[in-house]
Amino acid sequence: MRLNSPNMNIIYKACLKASKSLIRDFGEIEKLQVSSKGPGDFVSVADKKSEKIIIDELLKAHPDYGILSEEVGVINKNNKEKRWIIDPIDGTSNFLNGIPQFAISIGYEEKGEIICGIIFDPIKNEMFFAEKGSGAFLNNSRIRVSSQNKLKNSILVTGGPRSNTLRRNEIFQEYIKISNLVNIPIRKYGSASLDIANVACGRFDGYWQWDLNYWDVAAGIIILKEAGGFIEFVNFNQDNPAAKRNVLATNSKIHKELLNNLIKKNIE
Ligand code: IPD
Ligand code: CA
Ligand code: CA
Repeated sequence: MRLNSPNMNIIYKACLKASKSLIRDFGEIEKLQVSSKGPGDFVSVADKKSEKIIIDELLKAHPDYGILSEEVGVINKNNKEKRWIIDPIDGTSNFLNGIPQFAISIGYEEKGEIICGIIFDPIKNEMFFAEKGSGAFLNNSRIRVSSQNKLKNSILVTGGPRSNTLRRNEIFQEYIKISNLVNIPIRKYGSASLDIANVACGRFDGYWQWDLNYWDVAAGIIILKEAGGFIEFVNFNQDNPAAKRNVLATNSKIHKELLNNLIKKNIE
């Protein structure tokens, strides 16, 4: 870790502590998968355990900071100026199925802006982190987005749709449309935070997904920006603009081309 602002250190410690418990639980899941009982509730216990470890650490450091976390919701709701945004396991379905593609994601927000964040993949031991104005890193190396500037040559990743989304068909149509514009088939990895982190380090050129939650992307916002990428929240008519649910995250060079193709009507 090259960055050591106090808040970054707090997130780092919380992440490491929670990751030990997650690694242990992931090992158990691999065993449970081959047993007749299956992993079942074990996953939600692992999720809550990881969340509790993180929240305890963060509250120990700053008892008054606000928290928005996937499982427990909001803590210290009156503190809107300084908040931690937490996803204790991003990629739960992967975790549940013994697929090593999930992460802990923690962002720190001040007056509505994400200032620093970490996305940690404990299985690959890859820690993505960034702090405003200091660049983005993967473990000890500085990272940058790719230089690809043509959509047709880009490698893209997406996710969803959720089973309950109203836009289900539209999303499938969109997937077909974008698939027809790129040479390399679109990827789907099942962890929004890692998808964004992988755009930040140049593995992917772009990522889009609708109907996400703020905790899926909060840490990714600063990591991608500091790596030279561009993240945009697209609003459809019925959406609340503050919810930051529809994400387009790219290396910035293909941003406009991808956006134009996504928001144009699918059937023209
Ligand atoms: C999910 C993952 C997945 C995305 C879903 C998210 P979770 O988060 O990020 O990639 O497609 O929309 O809900 O539930 O595993 O924390
Ligand atoms: Ca998530
Ligand atoms: Ca989660």
